[in-house]
Amino acid sequence: MSDPNLPPIDPAKGAWDEKELSRRNFLEGAFFTVTGIAAVGVVGAGGRFLVGESLEPRTASWVKIGSVADLKAGTVHMVNYAMKVRDAWRDIQQKGTLYAFSTDGARYQVLDGTCTHLGCIVKWDNAEGAFACPCHSARFTRDGVVVSGPPPKALRTLETKVEDGALWARI
Ligand code: FES
Repeated sequence: MSDPNLPPIDPAKGAWDEKELSRRNFLEGAFFTVTGIAAVGVVGAGGRFLVGESLEPRTASWVKIGSVADLKAGTVHMVNYAMKVRDAWRDIQQKGTLYAFSTDGARYQVLDGTCTHLGCIVKWDNAEGAFACPCHSARFTRDGVVVSGPPPKALRTLETKVEDGALWARI
C-alpha cells in the first residue's frame, strides 16, 4: 500500500533513487557541519571578547612572612597580611592571617589561619598548644589537623620558599 503523501514513483528509477538521496544527505550533512563549526568559532570568539579575563582564575601571590633569623624555632609566628591581588578583571584587596612554625629553624610550615568551617580566623593558644576558632569553638593541632568542632578539613598548608634570608608563603 502506497502512502498518499509521498511523491509518485518514477518507474525508470525505481522506488527510491538511492544515489541521489545519499548525495543530498551528504551535502546537507557537510553544510550543517561546516556551518556549526563556524558558528561555534564566532560565538566562542565573541563570548571571549565579552567576558574578557573574568573567567581567568586568581593568580597566586607570595606573602613575605619575615626574616628567617627572626623566626625562632619552636614558636608559632602570626603574620597578618593585606595585599592587592588580581582576581579576573579587577584588583581586590586580600587580607588574611598566616601562621609559621619551624621545629628546627631549617624547614618551615605555614598555615592559612582561615577556619575551614565558615572562614573565621583561628588563634594560636600557646597554653593549649592548639589553634582555636572563636566562632564555633573548633580546635586544630599545630599542623592544622582538626581536633574537634565542625570544620570539614584541616587548615590549608601553604607552599613556602626561602629567598634572600626571608621566608615566603604562597597564598
Ligand atoms: S568558623 Fe571556625 S568553627 Fe565555625
